[in-house]
Amino acid sequence: MQLISAVVFSAVVSGCFGQNETFPTWFLFGAATAAYQIEGGWNAGDKGESMWDRLLHSTNDITLDSSNADVACDSYHLWKRDIEVAKELGLNVYRFSISWPRILPSGFPNQVSEDGKKYYSNLIDGLLEKGIQPVVTMYHWDLPQSLQDLGGWANPLIATWFGDYARVLYNLFGDRVKYWITLNEPLAICDGGYNKMAAPYLDDMKIGGYLCNKHVLLAHAAAYRVYEKEFQSLYYGKLSMANVFFWFKPEKTTDEEATKLAIQMWEGRYAHPIYSESGGWPPELEKILAENSKKEGYPYPRLPPFTPEEIEFVKGTYDFYALNHYTTRLVRKVDPEKAGSWPYYGCKEIGVDFVNHPTWKTAVIDWFAIYPEGLREQLLWINNTYGVDQVMITENGYPDLNDDLFDVQRMTYIKTMLQQVFLAINDGIHVMGYTVWSMMDNFEWVTGYKTKYGLYAVDFLSPNLTRTPRESARFYSSVTKGRRIPKYRVLVDYEDV
Ligand code: BGC
Repeated sequence: MQLISAVVFSAVVSGCFGQNETFPTWFLFGAATAAYQIEGGWNAGDKGESMWDRLLHSTNDITLDSSNADVACDSYHLWKRDIEVAKELGLNVYRFSISWPRILPSGFPNQVSEDGKKYYSNLIDGLLEKGIQPVVTMYHWDLPQSLQDLGGWANPLIATWFGDYARVLYNLFGDRVKYWITLNEPLAICDGGYNKMAAPYLDDMKIGGYLCNKHVLLAHAAAYRVYEKEFQSLYYGKLSMANVFFWFKPEKTTDEEATKLAIQMWEGRYAHPIYSESGGWPPELEKILAENSKKEGYPYPRLPPFTPEEIEFVKGTYDFYALNHYTTRLVRKVDPEKAGSWPYYGCKEIGVDFVNHPTWKTAVIDWFAIYPEGLREQLLWINNTYGVDQVMITENGYPDLNDDLFDVQRMTYIKTMLQQVFLAINDGIHVMGYTVWSMMDNFEWVTGYKTKYGLYAVDFLSPNLTRTPRESARFYSSVTKGRRIPKYRVLVDYEDV
């Protein structure tokens, strides 16, 4: 019996899913995208160049398929179709990001682009007309090249520049946007950008990456404080920064301490300064990194200390915890000398490696283990550690390499993740909402167009960049419609039954 095709469904029913989990009325179902990954129009109107534009125009060697995102899903022109897609999915919220150089071509507020203003204003109004709330990310990795030329995230002035940019956004869109995400995944911005995994594609994690760590937190806080002071009493919006994308568990009981440290390295480094009562870097991590720096002969800790004023400035700059969650890794304690540097330099700093659990399945990406319980465990950890009142899952999604419309694995992944969200809500954690990554296939950074995350498939070869719902989209729209995980029939087509 061979499974052949997803497109034509025969009447064979293979399995029924579902319990009657009804989500609370306040729970927000959503889907997400990001500007550089979908918009195209890289030089439309007076848009400035971003550091991703520069990087991918300078070489073909970075993306797996030698592609770039000059056109991507062409959402710069096809935004009306995107709104229809959001509506077809029954979304309560659509998370998208604003391209900094599209709004501020020079990177600074000396010139605010009329085209950029119009584009995002239309998108926001169009969503609101359909009853969909925008969740707007201010920075999803496409820094103006002009600012990268000035040192980008390694320059401390970037905190002020980001605060200035944020003020422009609040002035333009604050009347209509109630959920703001300042930065998407500082881990990817710094540990990725300075470890040759993303623009600016530097190999400088030891120094540049840690400077970036401090400056992303100050930049986030600057944007938060501008809102708090100048806009909160006018617009009553909520702000956060989207953190991390994986969760950790010990491989063996002897790896428990190393796991705690790994959580501090990859999540706490960006969360402790904002959410903890004391603020500042996670103390045990700061100590280890300072010792490492000393051993290596540096006169200062490579992870730059915060001043007491900076600690106060960053502490408490949140209205909810924005969590991106994809996978769970097992942590194995190893000799720092022998630690692999994958996925990030931090493994060497604290002496850990990541491994897969022998019984966990993985997606096409071998490190992408499927362990839905990890999401609930991470939510519990966030709740217990920081006592935050509200959490929004701002990304969660499933990668595949094929174009199939019949994406049972993605659907199952989303379904089992939603079950964990439901359980977490029953645990008493106020999970405000859940946005799937991604609403549609898009430019998946260094893997180009090869990796698909979309509820909707995008035909990148068609002139209209046609968006077509996958089975997971059908499933997700029934979730959003019934506000529960439905009893769901998977219809499959067999060659020889
Ligand atoms: C990023 C997205 C990316 C996704 C899948 C997330 O960490 O925010 O931009 O497409 O991972 O790789």
